[in-house]
Amino acid sequence: MKVDKLQNYPDLKHRPRIVKIQDVKEETSTVKSITFRDDQCSKGKPGQFVMIWIPRIDEVPMTLSLIGRDAASGATVRKRGEATNALCAMKKGDQIGVRGPYGTYFTVDEEAKLLLVGGGTGIAALAPLIELPIMRRNDLTIVVGARTKTELIYLNRFKALHPAKAMRLIATTDDGSYGVKGLASSIVNTLLEKDKFDMVYACGPELMMKTILDAAQKMDTPVQFSLERIFKCGVGICGSCSLGPYRVCRDGPIFSGEMLQGIGEFGKTKRDSAGRIIPI
Ligand SMILES: Cc1cc2nc3c(=O)[nH]c(=O)nc-3n(C[C@H](O)[C@H](O)[C@H](O)COP(=O)(O)OP(=O)(O)OC[C@H]3O[C@@H](n4cnc5c(N)ncnc54)[C@H](O)[C@@H]3O)c2cc1C
Ligand code: FES
Repeated sequence: MKVDKLQNYPDLKHRPRIVKIQDVKEETSTVKSITFRDDQCSKGKPGQFVMIWIPRIDEVPMTLSLIGRDAASGATVRKRGEATNALCAMKKGDQIGVRGPYGTYFTVDEEAKLLLVGGGTGIAALAPLIELPIMRRNDLTIVVGARTKTELIYLNRFKALHPAKAMRLIATTDDGSYGVKGLASSIVNTLLEKDKFDMVYACGPELMMKTILDAAQKMDTPVQFSLERIFKCGVGICGSCSLGPYRVCRDGPIFSGEMLQGIGEFGKTKRDSAGRIIPI
């Protein structure tokens, strides 16, 4: 049977598609953005993720940080362990496997006042949302947080996007080496108290998102958060990504405040790769 016919078989749709790395950009000393061409990823929606297979190493979930710009899609990868170190060491022309895009995605209304908060590489999940054409018709406040100046990413990418009057871009660093000193969640608390937003979007450390959820709920502001758990299958089968009644890969990774209501694990515990419950 011809390969193109095989790809249409339903039971093969979760096979990794082999793609060549088109470009590697160093964002910081520990973070790189890789781009590749893949038709299905080009049709992905902001917030969705792909499973990236690094041959001979592992397969890991990555949010799509670039979707279909000049036909290229991509991921922004922080070095953490074996797989992410190997991915960051790859060069233009190297091959990886991708399957997906999977999962739920961010939804957005027009003419809305929106607060978008990215902690660390969490901003990767929000970048394709911020770049949607519909965002030009919205009032945007973007908070990009990092531990220190050299770990801030995407500031220039966002500055180039929308006319300054329609977008407020706030950088925060824990050590005060750039922008506002302190945690991104602290400035978000202040912003939520001062202004009425129609939606808060966030991705980053879960403790940051828990603090933002508590503050947003006090102000009756709806939220959409991108969550992480250990993903193995990525398609709702293995259960390694369980969170309360949900499988984060299938029912998320985008969660609303209503979905998170009453889930005691959120911001407190998660499962390690062996399934043991550990504190966050
Ligand atoms: C939906 C989703 C989107 C993600 N998007 C990004 C992204 O855009 N950029 C980015 O740098 N990272 C992202 N991650 C996290 C990334 O998948 C992990 O950092 C990576 O799997 C670590 O693998 P490793 O072999 O390098 O490290 P390891 O040494 O295996 O693990 C280091 C830590 O990473 C986490 N981790 C390990 N395996 C997984 C796994 N299979 N699934 C989730 N977390 C894991 C654990 O907390 C672990 O302690 C995302 C995770 C999820 C679930
Ligand atoms: S990763 Fe297997 S069920 Fe979610």
